[in-house]
Amino acid sequence: MVKKAVIPAAGYGTRFLPATKSSPKEMIPIIDTPVIQYVVEEAVASGITDILMIIGKGKRAIEEHFDRSPLLEETLAQKNNTEMLAKIRAISDMANIHFVWQKEMNGLGDAILHAKHHVGNEPFVILLGDTLVQGEDGPVTKQLIDVYNKYKGSVVALEEVKPELVSRYGIVDGNAVSDKVIKAKNWIEKPSIEEAPSNLAVASRYLFTPEIFDYLEKTLPGKNNEIQLTDAMREMVKYHPMYGLKFNGKRYDIGDKMGFLKTNIEFGLNDPELRNELIDWLKEFVEDL
Ligand code: UTP
Repeated sequence: MVKKAVIPAAGYGTRFLPATKSSPKEMIPIIDTPVIQYVVEEAVASGITDILMIIGKGKRAIEEHFDRSPLLEETLAQKNNTEMLAKIRAISDMANIHFVWQKEMNGLGDAILHAKHHVGNEPFVILLGDTLVQGEDGPVTKQLIDVYNKYKGSVVALEEVKPELVSRYGIVDGNAVSDKVIKAKNWIEKPSIEEAPSNLAVASRYLFTPEIFDYLEKTLPGKNNEIQLTDAMREMVKYHPMYGLKFNGKRYDIGDKMGFLKTNIEFGLNDPELRNELIDWLKEFVEDL
């Protein structure tokens, strides 16, 4: 049973400055809900009951968001705003949420290593706190857990990217074991089009067996002088089975300006309350360009 999730949320968010100067990028809203709340909801919908968030300096708003708010709840109750009261209460009741501090931003691999003590000797999932993933066949984290239950190895969500974009991503090299599952032989960080063994990119949701911590401990600082998760995965795959899951769906990187804009528009178009007015406005606005 996979019950624990780790959500790294300590990064600086330099691509989204100045908004991230004193506010966590994980608290950036998509319509009216911070991105990290959607991430927690995905974990909970996948059967996760224990969540460890890796946070750092300037990230206290994340803790506040998942804490109870007695004064706000009282005010909503007095105003008989029962719908919002239920919504606000649900946020702090979703799961057991714990926090650990990454004191120096030494990379995603280092952030994950901070979860070693809490995770212990069991498989766990990782969901990047600044990225939404929407699977057409249900939550992608749940799909990773299903693959783990079948194949008993680590599993990484894979997204098909345009061949000309492979050099931006970690790419899998492996063999198909079913139409959606690939047994990984290697993980290649940012290959050129010519070098790329596939156009399947690592997509911000992972399930690891606990051996990943042994490999992270041995990983030396790599690109940007940071401990890179991909470097640890590249060593681990030599000795432990690792799989990739091609999911049907979309990934939204909120820490990227264009990703943030597109996601808000798309979510707005999918919201029955906003959809029609937004379409009318968009049409008018685009016509005038
Ligand atoms: P990013 O690559 O998006 O880095 O991290 P970043 O620092 O957050 O943002 P930019 O690139 O400067 O704009 C991917 C994930 O890893 C976490 C981030 O919070 C994000 O969820 N991370 C990264 C950490 O938790 N600690 C780190 O030291 C680095």
